[in-house]
Amino acid sequence: MGKAAYAALALGGALVLAAGGARAAPLEQHLPVCAACHGKDGNSLIADNPSLAGMAPEYLVRQMKHFKSGDRKSAVMAPMAAALDADAMQALADHFSEQTPAAGKAGDPALAAKGKVVYDEGIVGSAVPACSGCHGDDGSGDAKYPRLAGQHAAYVEQQLAAYRSGARANDLKGVMGAVAKRMSDADMRAVAQYITGMNKE
Ligand code: HEC
Ligand code: HEC
Repeated sequence: MGKAAYAALALGGALVLAAGGARAAPLEQHLPVCAACHGKDGNSLIADNPSLAGMAPEYLVRQMKHFKSGDRKSAVMAPMAAALDADAMQALADHFSEQTPAAGKAGDPALAAKGKVVYDEGIVGSAVPACSGCHGDDGSGDAKYPRLAGQHAAYVEQQLAAYRSGARANDLKGVMGAVAKRMSDADMRAVAQYITGMNKE
């Protein structure tokens, strides 16, 4: 192989490295910040901070955009999202979606048993539909309906209350708001205890 060929190879290698670096850069820049609250692997240790592991990238990007635009209000997340451009949002969403969700923690057994009925069957008397109908029997969710399985109970309760009060109103056509407005505090607490113990993939 002549000198020129080596030079071309070396140049090719440098170009490949540069391209890989461009994709990795947003993650390297932002992930340490997110990791402080959500865990590097997306399994948060603090009940107020949602776990992000295994959630669909489409859902995660949508939430980041909504925090940035103000469609979803959070004093904590607004400045975080403001620092992210579209490429960074996608890179972070891809990273978190690829992580394995930690096994769920068993909630209060009596409440979780009541919550399972709400989750699987809804509440007939107050016309609450089964959560499973949208979020899936195992709570694994999809691009449109977020993964719930294993999520912190405190976070689930907070979000249900925010949908009910209208503080969170970024759901398409207000579907989740309509569900939450029919739920009592006791219903929310029970279903949150069930959800946090769902640990199937
Ligand atoms: C200081 C703690 C903190 C940091 C740092 C942080 N977050 Fe958050 N994040 C939160 C809290 C708290 C919420 C819930 C907000 C609410 O009340 O709706 C949240 C919510 C989210 C959600 C929505 C999750 C869901 O289930 O709907 C996403 C996505 C998210 N954060 C991504 C990120 C990314 C990406 C970063 C890094 C750039 C980051 N967060 C940094 C605390 C934090
Ligand atoms: C008709 C479909 C539908 C039904 C039924 C439904 N949900 Fe939802 N849920 C949604 C949608 C849509 C979102 C928000 C998606 C978005 O913001 O992009 C959501 C969001 C949520 C969130 C916020 C998750 C997060 O990570 O922030 C929680 C918690 C939740 N639902 C719990 C429940 C519970 C509990 C039930 C049953 C009582 C239920 N849902 C029934 C459609 C549904």
